[in-house]
Amino acid sequence: MSNTNIRIAVQKSGRLSDDSLKLFKECGIKFESGGSKLRSISSNFPIEFLFLRDDDIPGYVEDGVADLGVIGLNVLEENRKEVEIVKELGFSKCRLSLAIPRNEVYTDLSYFEGKNIATSYPNLTNNFLKSKGITAHTHEISGSVEIAPSIGLAEGICDIVSTGGTLLSNGLKEVAEVFKSQAVLISNNSLTAEKKSILDKLTFRIDSVQRGQN
Ligand code: PRP
Ligand code: ZN
Ligand code: MG
Repeated sequence: MSNTNIRIAVQKSGRLSDDSLKLFKECGIKFESGGSKLRSISSNFPIEFLFLRDDDIPGYVEDGVADLGVIGLNVLEENRKEVEIVKELGFSKCRLSLAIPRNEVYTDLSYFEGKNIATSYPNLTNNFLKSKGITAHTHEISGSVEIAPSIGLAEGICDIVSTGGTLLSNGLKEVAEVFKSQAVLISNNSLTAEKKSILDKLTFRIDSVQRGQN
């Protein structure tokens, strides 16, 4: 018996974290979470959890600092890291959408031609618009994107929509979907045979949890 642990990076706090922790607990994996401790080793499965900012997770997995990660497909696609997608996890479903002030008249995507769009996802937004033949300027901001039109920073936004509550509270309406997202399990491209076999055990457990939910 060796004492290798597989290392997994999960979001410290935010949209992905509760459901990620819930999944691993449903897999029968015991570990401490919550509080300010940023690392935790399971007492009954060869896994170590790292609690990190979500944006950093794909890079840590690419570099091999973590072997695995749980991340939104939106973050992964925006950053284009060299990692493998092991599994769709079916939670944290959301979409990246274009939105404009509610009282504006919207016809089609040509609305955005030559306009300023505030977003935390410039790559996904630009690729989408380009594929539709639209030339617009994306202005990158890292959060509170929905405030941009009302303060004159941009005419439209492209941001994550889940319930739609944030758009509504900020006088915006969703006009086009750019990308559909959910949480995915990712892995480093060159896991050792030993770590691969731990990953197999983990995905086996995830599969049975998911079967139980259907
Ligand atoms: C996300 C996203 C939207 C909001 C959408 O923000 O950027 O603002 O949630 O959710 P809703 O449709 O259910 O209202 P988050 O709370 O993660 O903050 P951030 O944008 O500052 O990261
Ligand atoms: Zn700009
Ligand atoms: Mg965020």
